[in-house]
Amino acid sequence: MFVRIWNLYALVYDVLRGFTPYRKLQNRVVEYLELIPHLAVLDLGCGTGNTIENIVGLPVKPYGLKIRGMERSPAMISRARKKLAGFSGVELQEGSFDALANHGERYDRIISVNGLYAAKDPLETLGLWFDLLEDGGLLVLVNPFVPRLWPIFQEHFGDLWSKKDIKGFLEFALHFPAWAILIAINLSIAKQAKHRVFHFLHPKDLQEIAQAAGFRVLKQELIYGDGSVIMSLQKETGALIRRAQRPSELEQVYKLRYAVYCGEIKSLDAFDYPDKMETDRFDPFSAHFLAKEGQELVGCIRVLSDSGRGFLLEDDEEFAIPEELSLAREKTLEISRWIVVPAKRGTGVWLSLASKVVEWSRCRGYENLIMAAQKKLWEGLCKNGLEVRLWSCFKEYHRTISAAGLVWTNAKK
Ligand SMILES: C[S@@+](CC[C@H](N)C(=O)[O-])C[C@H]1O[C@@H](n2cnc3c(N)ncnc32)[C@H](O)[C@@H]1O
Repeated sequence: MFVRIWNLYALVYDVLRGFTPYRKLQNRVVEYLELIPHLAVLDLGCGTGNTIENIVGLPVKPYGLKIRGMERSPAMISRARKKLAGFSGVELQEGSFDALANHGERYDRIISVNGLYAAKDPLETLGLWFDLLEDGGLLVLVNPFVPRLWPIFQEHFGDLWSKKDIKGFLEFALHFPAWAILIAINLSIAKQAKHRVFHFLHPKDLQEIAQAAGFRVLKQELIYGDGSVIMSLQKETGALIRRAQRPSELEQVYKLRYAVYCGEIKSLDAFDYPDKMETDRFDPFSAHFLAKEGQELVGCIRVLSDSGRGFLLEDDEEFAIPEELSLAREKTLEISRWIVVPAKRGTGVWLSLASKVVEWSRCRGYENLIMAAQKKLWEGLCKNGLEVRLWSCFKEYHRTISAAGLVWTNAKK
């Protein structure tokens, strides 16, 4: 219905890139995303691709990042395609976020910057987005609640004035016709909001709608001339096993690893981890899974892809992957740091962690999971119907008696 407005908007939209409040907003969105390795991100109503460019253009991009942008305006998406052509891991799709078909794909982050207000029914649309998120995943939402153009311009000019940025003032003057169109479009959007065609929602109402759709509100603040709100919303279903999605959840994992490897088994030296968190060189390339009971972490497991730095078990020559197996390394993941707290050993927690990893890996097309593990673990996996193959003898390995081998995920080849 409004595609013509968005197409017209596309002609002038990127003038906003030189606009302080818009740049601040975009930077805040990236902070709210709490980026970690191996994320699948979906930007709904991605416009000309500015948020995506901000993420993929980060000086240190998180490993294994995949971003899909969805946009209904052909003019907007064609600009996004040009802008993002040189970046890997980015896919753009023309379509409506109100009518997203759910083919079972899941995302770790969903972004909607000034898109939700154009949804037909925000509650229904948020429900759809909730279903698309992985457990523990985040929705970062920006939505206006009052049309306040003047405070935004004040912020911009205040910034130029404080920096004595003559070039900035000249650029604004030079782009004046584009600004006139932008202002006219924004006034027209505000008019639609007044008639409740667009949904400018007070932060309290937006929070209630998000909660009704199933989200937990993590944090929020006013932004963009204090006429919009930015919210971080988490999908928390209370599942026992899920991916560690936030940096704070990763810290919990590292603390548990420290307690077990440095405290209980003493296979690592506590002296090497003064912050009481056990991490190694593979963590920036890994995904981690949690086993939780309420707020308590009762187990974890790590999944590492070959980032060109090899696998952990290859540090040990006797565990080297035999050539005759012809494993496709890009279809292989390594499991390590598999922990269950003492009180939960002998329960099904270890198997639930394994099942989650197998499912996650299979969905992403990984065919093999390799690891060094103790005999009872290999036997347990076999007993539970998983196809395994060991390629080494059992020997002492980090204070356990372990052998190296693989588990087939049965992913479609
Ligand atoms: C104000 S722009 C924001 C663009 C971008 N998110 C940004 O921050 O720069 C809103 C965008 O949402 C898109 N949009 C509106 N309704 C949509 C829908 N139902 N499905 C997909 N995109 C939609 C518009 O075409 C427009 O590009």
